[in-house]
Parts: sequence; structure tokens; C-alpha cells
Amino acid sequence: MQPKYPMQIYLAPMEGVIDHHMRYLLNQLGGIDLCVTEFIRVSKTVLPSHIFLSACPELTPLTERQSGEESKYGSTNTTRVQLLGSDPELIALNAQKAAELGATAIDLNFGCPAKTVNRSYGGARLLDNTRLLHDIVKATRECVPSTTLVTAKIRLGYEDRGSYLHNAMAIAEAGADELVVHARSKADGYKPPAYWGYINEIQQQLDIPVIANGEIWTVDDYIACCEQSGCDSIMLGRGLLSRPDLGLAIKAHQRGEDYQYMDWPQIAELALKLLRLTQVYYPPKHMGNRIKQWLFYLMRSYPQAGTLFENIKRSRDFEFIEEALISQTKTQ
Ligand SMILES: Cc1cc2nc3c(=O)[nH]c(=O)nc-3n(C[C@H](O)[C@H](O)[C@H](O)COP(=O)(O)O)c2cc1C
Repeated sequence: MQPKYPMQIYLAPMEGVIDHHMRYLLNQLGGIDLCVTEFIRVSKTVLPSHIFLSACPELTPLTERQSGEESKYGSTNTTRVQLLGSDPELIALNAQKAAELGATAIDLNFGCPAKTVNRSYGGARLLDNTRLLHDIVKATRECVPSTTLVTAKIRLGYEDRGSYLHNAMAIAEAGADELVVHARSKADGYKPPAYWGYINEIQQQLDIPVIANGEIWTVDDYIACCEQSGCDSIMLGRGLLSRPDLGLAIKAHQRGEDYQYMDWPQIAELALKLLRLTQVYYPPKHMGNRIKQWLFYLMRSYPQAGTLFENIKRSRDFEFIEEALISQTKTQ
């Protein structure tokens, strides 16, 4: 059967992990079609341009980038600007500002489980207030040009998995162009399993693309997720961090081709690239933090990442970390 919508693979937004360097690196590797920025928190005001440009340097006009910087950025067309907040009018005005700066899509975060975010009535906390979800999407849709996509990401509910259908329908009715569903409630946290079957009901009811998310670590998980959710498109989070070429493997599977995952020296090469790419952006006290964080996810698929982590975990010395990574890029 022909898919209802073109099949796409999204890279999940991950606060503190998927910044523009990671987006660039993973985009270059291939296998993903769309990315989302880290969230921009909207609480009191229309934010200044530099906040949007820092979360999404992809918006910086090519002419204003420093010479040679072009290659460090992904494309505005494939990067969505993620907003987090609970005031419809304020979110809409900030979305408008992002659109003026060149954002081609605004993604609304209705899934963040963090206590600080939920206490200020943002993220997943809104899943208990269908009316407010609706109003935020509607206000945003009305405030940005019709060519700017408005998309949303939800969980199945807050305390339980009860509000998903109501919320999804309200979001679509308010004019969202797409909906990503992380197949767990806020209370489920990140504990397996993900309840992909719930998404099936949503995608049957909605006339917009619904993208399934949660707990896809392998091609077999992808197949099971599509079967159970009825979705053609998926969003990959931690699975892609632990196997950076998982998107490529899924796409090869779709073409009916065999795929050989990258080996550890190739992964170490990628990590080395990230270290060098980010060197000038982090003060010495944070040197290597992003690499160490990534190694934590890579350990799931590559045991060598654990050994490397142990070796560099106390170091903040660029040369030491670089040397440790270089040694891993050679086939042992
Ligand atoms: C460290 C981390 C940060 C995250 N930050 C965000 C975020 O800013 N916005 C959002 O909608 N979801 C966020 N998520 C949730 C992911 O986008 C995704 O829904 C979740 O990890 C489930 O997908 P996975 O099982 O493929 O990782 C975050 C998840 C992690 C692990």
C-alpha cells in the first residue's frame, strides 16, 4: 500500500544534547530528513533575535556568517525552531519573530517532563489542559505566515495515557500541520516500553501527518513501531545517538538493501570531528563534556565507548581528549 505521506526520519529534539553542532554532524552523516532545535523558553516577553539565532544558528543569513563558517551550519529548511511555554499570545508573537528571522517551521513542545518546566506550567504539564493546547496552536497558526509550518509534539498524557486522542484532535483542529507523538505518558518517563499502538488511533483520526516516536533503537524496532502505530514517519532520539547511522540503516532497509553499521573507528572519527568542531565554543572547564555525554549513549551499541569514557572522564585537556580519540580511530 502507498504511504499516506512521504516517509521521513526526524531527529528528536534533545535539550543539552542536540545543539547545532550535533545537528550538523548527524545531518552530514545522512539518514535524517528533519531536525528540531533545543527549546526556546517563552515566559514574559518577545525574545531578542540573538536568542533565536543562538538556539538556531541555521537562521543566520549566509552573508553574515564568518568566512568559512557556512559549512558548520545545517539548513533552515530542515530545522524547526522549538518553543516552550504556556501563554498562547506570547508564544504566537515569538513564533512570528522566529518566522521573520527565517524559520520555516515552528515546533511546539507539549512533552517536556522536567520538574522546573512543569512547575511553570509548560511542556507535558499542558497535556491536562486540552483547551490551552488548542489555543496555543491556534494563536501560533494565526500569527505566522501560511507558508510557515506549525508542528507540535505530545506525550500520551500526563499522569496516565488518557488524554492523547482528545489532545491530538484539538491540536489538529487548531491548525497544526504535523504532530509528533512520543508514545508514553509523562509519568512513564523514559521507561521502556513505548506504547506505539496508541498512536494508531491518533493517525487514523487525523488528516495531518503523525510521526511516531519513542524507543526505536534498531531496524527491527522501526518495523514494529510502524506496524503498531500505522505511521510511515518516525522520530529517532536516543537510538540515533547510540547508533548514529540508524537512519541510514532504516533507509537501506526500505530500499531492500543490506546495511553494514559503522564500526567503532568510524564512530570515533565522528566524535573527534565533534570535539574539533566545538573546541572554540566551550570554555576549558567544559572541554570534552559533549563528547563524554555522547559516549554515554554510544556505550549501548559500542562497548569501546565505555572504555574511552573511563579514560577521559576526568580530563578537561583538549589535547589529551583529542589524542585519546585519535587512538580509537585506528583499527585495533
Ligand atoms: C536529554 C533529552 C532531552 C530532551 N529534550 C527534549 C526537548 O527539548 N523537547 C522535546 O519535545 N522532547 C525532548 N526530549 C524527548 C525526545 O525528543 C524523545 O521524545 C524521547 O527521547 C523519546 O524518544 P527516544 O526513545 O527515541 O529517545 C528529550 C529527551 C532526552 C533524552
